[in-house]
Amino acid sequence: MKILITGGAGFIGSHVVDLLIENGHEVCILDNMSHGKIENINSKAFLYRFDIRDEKVIEIFKEEKPEVLIHNAAQISVPYSVEDPINDASVNIIGTLNILEAARKSGVKKIIYPASAAIFGNPEYLPIDEKHPLEMLCGYGVTKHTVEHYLKIYKNLYNIDYVCLRYSNVYGPRQDSSGEGGVVAIFCEKMLENESPFIYGDGEQIRDFVYVKDIARANIMAIESNSCGIYNISTNQKVRVNELFQLIGKALNRNIKPIYTNTREGDIRNSYMSYEKAKKHLGWKPEYNLIDGVIETINYYKKSMKK
Ligand SMILES: NC(=O)c1ccc[n+]([C@@H]2O[C@H](COP(=O)([O-])OP(=O)(O)OC[C@H]3O[C@@H](n4cnc5c(N)ncnc54)[C@H](O)[C@@H]3O)[C@@H](O)[C@H]2O)c1
Repeated sequence: MKILITGGAGFIGSHVVDLLIENGHEVCILDNMSHGKIENINSKAFLYRFDIRDEKVIEIFKEEKPEVLIHNAAQISVPYSVEDPINDASVNIIGTLNILEAARKSGVKKIIYPASAAIFGNPEYLPIDEKHPLEMLCGYGVTKHTVEHYLKIYKNLYNIDYVCLRYSNVYGPRQDSSGEGGVVAIFCEKMLENESPFIYGDGEQIRDFVYVKDIARANIMAIESNSCGIYNISTNQKVRVNELFQLIGKALNRNIKPIYTNTREGDIRNSYMSYEKAKKHLGWKPEYNLIDGVIETINYYKKSMKK
């Protein structure tokens, strides 16, 4: 099948590309490389270096005629969405509409979209399911959720199928630990350099860490499924940040103490999500446990730090 993936040079997108190619699909990537890396790109995929807001993207869609669009490209920083909500919305809403219009005009049949747990705010109950009330605390949450509405509209108006995958905290190789990168990436890189990472608050906050290869598999299953709608992609496992820190320290055989610092404003205390709906409708469930995922991630950082 011909698949066009935006953001395919990024962390999650590049793993999705690898698995698509492994499954025999023909893949082209549209990425402006603002946060993507050339070394992430599978040699069997073709890269169009374009911004998703560029009016010329329609020509790429008409040339490639993909059956499926995976729309990964996004401005992903929560603090940036607070500092510059206009640019956040420009990429995540206007850029997405540019892509959706190109998809519609070129005959795309199905769209896979990575939504986010950033739309739930402080949970009213746990685990969070797809019916949980929404409470967005930042522009990023608003822009990610807005696209969920547009996808429903494109289904109603143009009969384009869609699957929104609401990811919990994704971790794994190729994650960027700079700035506000994922906590697993930050802990691995700091501890490999024998430095103490910061932990915000007392470290007893709970998160739900899902491995990026399980995410890639969810994308494949979403393409293959006849289901349409919104699905949590998570592990439903409660992991305290302190537990994660100890697990990584043990796997690295490092006896490093973290530096505890103030809780960040807007940080959610506890969050984990149920994936029962994805299991029932997409046949997906996580296969990696945290230890195996962390070990693969550590091996990646060890190799990339030697280069
Ligand atoms: N990482 C997570 O835990 C997580 C959780 C939920 C949802 N998501 C969503 O998954 C998707 C991928 O996230 P990621 O963590 O892999 O981020 P990433 O930054 O590694 O990947 C995003 C890619 O999009 C590209 N991009 C950004 N702006 C662009 C633009 N204007 N035009 C073209 N390309 C552009 C970047 O160059 C990058 O390659 C995003 O939509 C994000 O919102 C991520």
